[in-house]
Amino acid sequence: MLKLGVNIDHVATLRQARYRNREETSRSEPDPVAAALACERAGCHGITAHLREDRRHIVDGDILRLRKSIATRLNLEMANTPGMVEFALAVRPEIVCLVPERREEVTTEGGLAVAANLFAITETRKRLGEAGIDVSLFIAPDPREIDAAAESGAGFIELHTGAYAEAYNHKAPRQYELERLITAARQAHGAGLKVNAGHGLTLENLGLIHLVPHLEELNIGHSIVSQAIFTGIESAVRDFLAAIAQYKAS
Ligand code: PXP
Repeated sequence: MLKLGVNIDHVATLRQARYRNREETSRSEPDPVAAALACERAGCHGITAHLREDRRHIVDGDILRLRKSIATRLNLEMANTPGMVEFALAVRPEIVCLVPERREEVTTEGGLAVAANLFAITETRKRLGEAGIDVSLFIAPDPREIDAAAESGAGFIELHTGAYAEAYNHKAPRQYELERLITAARQAHGAGLKVNAGHGLTLENLGLIHLVPHLEELNIGHSIVSQAIFTGIESAVRDFLAAIAQYKAS
């Protein structure tokens, strides 16, 4: 069964638009932890949150409260920096997804450069692994990066579906990006990696993702939170779960 992890950063983005730099109170709405619990009630399989260096949406306190409150799995997305690694070791999420991070980007734009940073990523993977935390690497569907991910000893990769999502409305580029994802998923599976995917996925573009083999979990945020404005977050999560229910891994 293909699992759904809901990325709740976008709920925190809305809260910060009003309450940034103010003391956290019960007025600080919407609460991403309350949203996570609603997603779980709707049947999602995990909660994903990205603690960015500039704390522009999720803040440390959100992660601590998520750790205490959620019943599914916590997937902490973070940059590979010493401070973040210490934070992860203290919080103990089930899984850490290492992502690249540039402050000026609106969202995570490219994949992690694993081959170019193999030593540092492998060291972090070992430290987190010793603490019982799984490690996933958010990478472009690039054969060199998949080889490097396998070499790092990470258990998971998350294939960056952003280029596919961007190309979706144009047939030839969409087909090209879809084939890159299919080839990458096969290569990763063959190398013993578990394969997640995410970024830019919507109810519309999810259909063709069924052609990508070996997927374990999709991480979806923006489109679920956008839908939630009209239908409520539980209903939005249920719609995405229904959209991936027929997925067959191979
Ligand atoms: N996976 C990773 C690693 C991400 O950085 C993001 C974006 O925060 C997502 C998945 C979810 O992307 P989206 O919000 O476009 O669904």
